[in-house]
Amino acid sequence: IWKTTLYSILATIGYFSYQLYREIHPKTQLPQSKTFENGSPRKNLVILGTGWGSVSLLQELDTTLYNVIIVSPRNYFLFTPLLPSTPVGTVNVKSIVEPIRSIIRRTKGSVVYYEAWATDIDPQNKQITVKSVFPGEQEDIKTIDYDYLVLSIGATSTTFNIPGVSENAIFMKEISDSEKVRSKIMKTIEKASFLPRDDPERRKLLNFLVVGGGPTGVEFAAELQDFIKQDLKKIMPEISQDIKVSLIEGLPNILNMFDKKLIDYTEKFLINEDVDLKLNTMVKKVNPDSIIAKCKGEEIELPYGVLVWSTGIKPQQLTLDTMKKLDEQTERRGLLIDDKLRLLGAQDSIFGIGDCTFHPGFVPTAQVAHQEGQYLAKTFQKLYEIDQLKWEQEQPNADINSIKTNIDKIESSIVDFKYAHMGSLAYIGGDKAIMDLNIAGAQYRLSGGNFVFWFWRSVYLSMCVSLRNRVLVTADWVRTFVFGRDSSV
Ligand code: NAI
Repeated sequence: IWKTTLYSILATIGYFSYQLYREIHPKTQLPQSKTFENGSPRKNLVILGTGWGSVSLLQELDTTLYNVIIVSPRNYFLFTPLLPSTPVGTVNVKSIVEPIRSIIRRTKGSVVYYEAWATDIDPQNKQITVKSVFPGEQEDIKTIDYDYLVLSIGATSTTFNIPGVSENAIFMKEISDSEKVRSKIMKTIEKASFLPRDDPERRKLLNFLVVGGGPTGVEFAAELQDFIKQDLKKIMPEISQDIKVSLIEGLPNILNMFDKKLIDYTEKFLINEDVDLKLNTMVKKVNPDSIIAKCKGEEIELPYGVLVWSTGIKPQQLTLDTMKKLDEQTERRGLLIDDKLRLLGAQDSIFGIGDCTFHPGFVPTAQVAHQEGQYLAKTFQKLYEIDQLKWEQEQPNADINSIKTNIDKIESSIVDFKYAHMGSLAYIGGDKAIMDLNIAGAQYRLSGGNFVFWFWRSVYLSMCVSLRNRVLVTADWVRTFVFGRDSSV
């Protein structure tokens, strides 16, 4: 047993040393060029987005096979599963961010990155228009030709057109949202502490509402309650007693994608942790300092000091514009893709992955986008081989029949994308998590307990895209455990 332990420790040290070496000393990259050494043209592969799908594609892709261009207004990858931990400071926002330049520096061939919005896609001429995020600069709009285009532009927070949401609520989707939520929480607490304890305005300010009982809403409400119970209690005991965190969900239960037993456990646990769980409560209108909701046929008004909105996602404007250009795009929830992740109506050249797409077999989660990215990397390897053979076919004295057989063979080896659902995990507060895992067809459902909590943390750490992220997140958890969360803005 000692030998096994020693070998495991040495293997772990070896693995992390290698990772560290790779991050500090990236390999020399092959430059981009118009043609390969044999004279065949090198195709342009344009990837839109720097989220889960694009980054997993980039990490798996042999970038020496294409001129790879990435366009995204966000010059970093954001590890979204830990975003709900950031507003209260359990984890720092910078710890869950990896610059896209660092990611592309670790690929084999050089990759071009433009910090810009893609504003238009022209499938007929295989061109996209991009607009720099730095307005007013000369030539801030350019067109880029593509041979293959990957749309991985994600989605945006939905409001279901409920009046007042955009004006008064804060979303939980991007770093800027997390910073806004943090600032709002800390300022509201200070503002309330200025008022006498029996002042109704103070009571209103200390009502913190989280709308949407999906994983984002639950994890954020849990983190908020941790901050109040574990840290604010020590530095502002009176205020911490008076804050009420309410989680508002329109359906009869929260966390719909989880098993019923885990849902029941979580609901009981949250109530026990003093989270005011309001089920069957559909928000209909948001005023500057109260929400109007329908609860069991009755209209209720809930005043608030902080309102966080996490009711899911809707397509981006570019997604909607692209749908209009392709006749076969008839689904409003996202860009329709086939089983090989090709965009219906542009199957020869445009692929779609992640939350901007719609396929009846997959849900819009990070896990799906990640696997789709990995799948596309393999597809692009095969498309490169096919393109090479097609070029050879056009050369003088080519053995056309044998090349055609080879092309057919490779084409038929591009199998359909199969999503392997590994399961779901969620943090529910008080160092407790729930897990609903699917391992080799067997279902493992566990709630609470130290094992699940540490398992949740280990899985999230392993999912981080760089060693730097893993080290920073671990250091944040240690810092929070030892010193608590900080309450400054
Ligand atoms: P979601 O779509 O999962 O949940 C939104 C919730 O808001 C729903 O339960 C819905 O009934 C409720 N809602 C909608 N309108 C409402 C209204 N007007 N009033 C009250 N309640 C209303 O959204 P979420 O949590 O942002 O997650 C987005 C995606 O990311 C999901 O597919 C989710 O599975 C995934 N995700 C998974 C995580 C995990 O597995 N730990 C973590 C975060 C996200």
